[in-house]
Formats: sequence, C-alpha cells, structure tokens
Amino acid sequence: MPPHFSLLVLLLFFLLLVVLYSFQYSSSQNAPVLRSRNAPATEFLSFFSSSSSNSTVSTHLRCLTRRPHLAGTPSSSSAAAYVLSRLRSAGLQTLTRTYSPLLSYPSSSSLSLLRPDHSLLKPLSLLEPADPSPSSGVVPPYHAYSPSGSAVAPPVFVNFGRDEDYVVLDKLGVEVSGKVVIVRRGMGPRGAVVAKAAEKGAEAVVMFGDRTDGGVERGTVMSGSVGDPLTPGWAAVGAQGAERLREEDEEVRRRLPRIPSMPVSAETATEILRALGGPAAPEEWCFGAAAEVRGVGGGNVLLNFTYRR
Ligand SMILES: *[C@@H]1O[C@H](CO)[C@@H](O)[C@H](O)[C@H]1NC(C)=O
Ligand SMILES: *[C@@H]1O[C@H](CO)[C@@H](O)[C@H](O)[C@H]1NC(C)=O
Repeated sequence: MPPHFSLLVLLLFFLLLVVLYSFQYSSSQNAPVLRSRNAPATEFLSFFSSSSSNSTVSTHLRCLTRRPHLAGTPSSSSAAAYVLSRLRSAGLQTLTRTYSPLLSYPSSSSLSLLRPDHSLLKPLSLLEPADPSPSSGVVPPYHAYSPSGSAVAPPVFVNFGRDEDYVVLDKLGVEVSGKVVIVRRGMGPRGAVVAKAAEKGAEAVVMFGDRTDGGVERGTVMSGSVGDPLTPGWAAVGAQGAERLREEDEEVRRRLPRIPSMPVSAETATEILRALGGPAAPEEWCFGAAAEVRGVGGGNVLLNFTYRR
C-alpha cells in the first residue's frame, strides 16, 4: 500500500470518528425536532407530516410533475432548485452536489412495417397522442441505456418474454433468433426481458404496456440494481471527479443491454400484432393485453426498427 494511501485511510478514519462523535453529541442535546442525523425514520416522518398539510403536498407534487424533468436536462435542475428552496424554507440544512452518472438520451427512432420484398407497408407512430411541441421538454419515448441499432426482420410476439413464453413459441415451431421481438410489459424488469430476448438471439425488442390512453412507458433497460453502472456502490459525485469503471468493463457490460429496444403505445403494438400471421397466439396471451393479439408471427411482414441515441 503506498504511504499516501495509508495516510488517507488514517485521515478518513479520524474524520469518521469526529463525525460520529459530533452526531452523538448533538443527539444528546435538547434540540429541535431533528436532533440527529441518525434519528429513526419515524422521527423524519412525523417532522414532515407536522410541517405540511395535504394541500401543500399536492401543490408540491403538482409543481414538480407539471413539466418533465429527466435527469441531466435543464428542467431537472429547476426541479432540484424547487426542492432546495422548499427544504430551506422549512428550516432544514441543505446542500447540492453535482453527480455525473452514465445515462443515454434518444436522438432518433423509427419503426415501420415492410412487405417481404422490403417495400413500405405502413409507417408506425412512436409519439404519444398529445404530440409534444419541442419547447415542452417532453422527451420522446425511449429506453434509457438501450444501444443504438437497427434491424429489418420479421416481428414475433413473445407475450411477456418469460422462459415459459419462449417454451410455448418453441412448441409452436416459431423461431425467435434473428427476429424483432414484440413483448408485453408487466412481468419482470425491462432489463431482464431485453437480456432474455438477446439470449434467444433476437435482433431488437419492441415493448408495449397496458395503458389504453395512447401513452408510452419510458424507463431503463439496465439490469441489476438501480444506480450509476459506472460507479456501482459509490457515488458518481463531481463533474469528472469520481473514480469510475469504463463502459467496456465486464462488470458494466453485464448490466447494459446487448440489443436495442424501444417502448411503443398499445395502439402501435396493435398495428404490428394485427399484421402478424403464423400460428395463433395461445388464448391466455390475448387475455388482458391492451393490444389486439392474433398470430404470433409467420414471417409475412418485416419490421424496420431503427434507434439512435
Ligand atoms: C390527508 O389525506 C389523507 C389521505 O386521503 C387523509 O387520511 C388525511 O386525513 C388527510 N389529512 C388532512 C389533515 O386533511
Ligand atoms: C428503414 O428505416 C430507416 C430509417 O427510417 C431507413 O433509412 C431505411 O431505408 C429503412 N429500410 C428499409 C429497407 O426500408
């Protein structure tokens, strides 16, 4: 161990002692509602419930959710400033930190149905009904951490994309390898569903949810616990300060999806599913799905999938 490193460890240990001592000290004082930082959660809870009412809670919620605030965008720093000012006015000590975790943003995506001869059958909509103006800050539907990629391949409906669903397809004699998988969201994390499709040899994944209002569910397709994949277990604090893994490191690659994916509305999924020939989907695959389910896919149409981040 280099000497400066052990010195640092000693220094940190000393700091830890000082910090622990001061917490101990402050919690023994007769002090305001929040006496110590290691106060039980119930104490924080009663502090918050005593300092707010249902109407202020709903006002805060309204203010914070009125506009999108995707991490790393200007609107997210306004949301942070809002929280900061409210906590300050409640008399709490506050501070801000800049974190630089890995996150992807969409740059373009397109989806269309093609005939087997690659001529265009139908362009598909990837937007939501309330077509957002660019100034609204609404981020187009996308899957965070999906790699860029494109595929022109037959679509196959795989229900929830679980092991048992692939067993059913296998029994129906439907090949998944080299296809674009259409999956219904709702059983298991997105990351695991995409990883399973990749393992089955799929080229790309199109995911739809059970919303019937035309909305599209955004979310992450990273596997494993939430948090920055480049700083697992420690904070990605600072603009470039924190020690981080590289995207190519095995530990990181294991968590990032190998194939591209995108979310679509149930309406768009229905457009694809309606076009699918092939063996009829099992009855239980149709039950409760927001999209209309018929065949599972028979290579009678192609899906042109493109996603760039
Ligand atoms: C706030 O709303 C909750 C849930 O609706 C309710 O149980 C509670 O009584 C309300 N509190 C006040 C102070 O109105
Ligand atoms: C598929 O879509 C992409 C992006 O819209 C387009 O550039 C490409 O020409 C399409 N491919 C076919 C075979 O139509």
